[in-house]
Amino acid sequence: MQEYKLFLNGEWSDSVTGETFEDINPATLEPMGAFQKASLEDANSAVDSAEEAFESWSRTPAPQRGRILFRAARMLEDRKEDLSRLLTMENGKILEEARGEVQEAIDMAYYAAGEGRRLLGETAPSELPDKFCMTVRRPIGVVGLITPFNFPIAIPAWKMMPALISGNTLVLKPSSDTPLLAIELVKILNEAKVPRGVINLVTGEGGTVGAALVGNKKIRAISFTGSLDNGKWILREASKDIKRVSLEMGGKNPIIVMDDANMELAVDGVLWGAFGTTGQRCTAASRVIVNEKVLPEFQRKLEERAKRLKVGSGLDESVDIGPLINGGQLAKVERYVQIGKDEGASLTLGGSRAKFLPGHFFEPTIFTNVTAEMKIAQEEIFGPVLSLISARSLEQAIEIANSVAYGLSSSIYTENMKNAFLAIEQMEAGITYVNAPTIGAEIHLPFGGVKATGNGTREAGTTAINEFTDLKTVYFDYSGRLQKAQIDTENESD
Ligand code: UN1
Repeated sequence: MQEYKLFLNGEWSDSVTGETFEDINPATLEPMGAFQKASLEDANSAVDSAEEAFESWSRTPAPQRGRILFRAARMLEDRKEDLSRLLTMENGKILEEARGEVQEAIDMAYYAAGEGRRLLGETAPSELPDKFCMTVRRPIGVVGLITPFNFPIAIPAWKMMPALISGNTLVLKPSSDTPLLAIELVKILNEAKVPRGVINLVTGEGGTVGAALVGNKKIRAISFTGSLDNGKWILREASKDIKRVSLEMGGKNPIIVMDDANMELAVDGVLWGAFGTTGQRCTAASRVIVNEKVLPEFQRKLEERAKRLKVGSGLDESVDIGPLINGGQLAKVERYVQIGKDEGASLTLGGSRAKFLPGHFFEPTIFTNVTAEMKIAQEEIFGPVLSLISARSLEQAIEIANSVAYGLSSSIYTENMKNAFLAIEQMEAGITYVNAPTIGAEIHLPFGGVKATGNGTREAGTTAINEFTDLKTVYFDYSGRLQKAQIDTENESD
């Protein structure tokens, strides 16, 4: 079996623990490779390398940093097909989606590379003569990036590319379910000639490696995508030395289907939003709130189509739904199906493991007669489980949509502009789609959520640079005398 290393100070190295763990293909349960189980010491040495590389990288002109990222983007593009296949094998998602994900990483690399010629600040007039005011962007320092299994290359790219173009150095800790694609991305950035020490990668347990990064005083910012519990812990720990933290912690994303919606379009959208990526997206649609007048028709059409979705290996191009990531996730989905039944919801489709042993396959599952307060309508399941909830009016639908802790993505299907604008205004979410499902964010727009989804930061888009830079305000006085703001101005204005 191939053994993969840590990437520390420009070298592929063994962990000091000498221990490894396996990354399992969730469709076949075959190992993809052995990965280093890094220790606290390894994580700290990664941070030291990043700290040492910071001065030179942060002083490299941003357009030159951009040239390196452009090179990496082209290399990613050249390798799109083989990376996509590897991604399907490592994560399970179907090949079509894997290609989409690799494209997302490519898009982000190009976008961030171009940002090297912007990194814009502002200028403003001074209230005093012979004085110039402006803002400039400064890198934060060493940043720690902790990423989940569900987008093993896109999310590391979302975080690394903007962090790098902004002049930060970094330590990446990918999910232990999917370290391979992160390693491939780091290899490419290394071949694209990102200087030694600028990027470091440590694999291993979150409790050891993730915690080491969060606890290391030399790390000035943590960017985390993952579970609510881990995010809360990170926020608490990071507050001890006032680190900057950006969090993206999931959703319970609703699609509202109004009685004036185009039904075929809504069915298409719900199928893709709920069962795409086997429901393992933070943006997955897990609740459909349907106007009572069209609920029977919508349900019939949806079930008819959902029944025909094919579950199986993501490498088989006729398959719609790949496996769940691991046994723990499979057990969690089963547990929620049982909870749904116990709560009195009606299971109308699926509900059990698909018989494709030995992989972690689960059938597309639909519950009807779900009420807003049921656990299956409140908690993030991260699997192919959809709840149908009935609503009398738009007002009630929005109230139900907003009745959860999370607020990442949301959607409304309607042909009525007023309904659409009311939903945009009132749905508590970082993202609202009109006549499109809750998934499919584009990299040049801000991504993130409200309420328990995050702490107000946004990834991607122009906001990605905010996440990884500090703003410095500059006052440049060329008057040659002491000028006092707010005081010298007093008489002049009268
Ligand atoms: C996630 O699930 O954490 O909008 C990210 C989407 C993707 C990204 C999802 N572009 O569904």
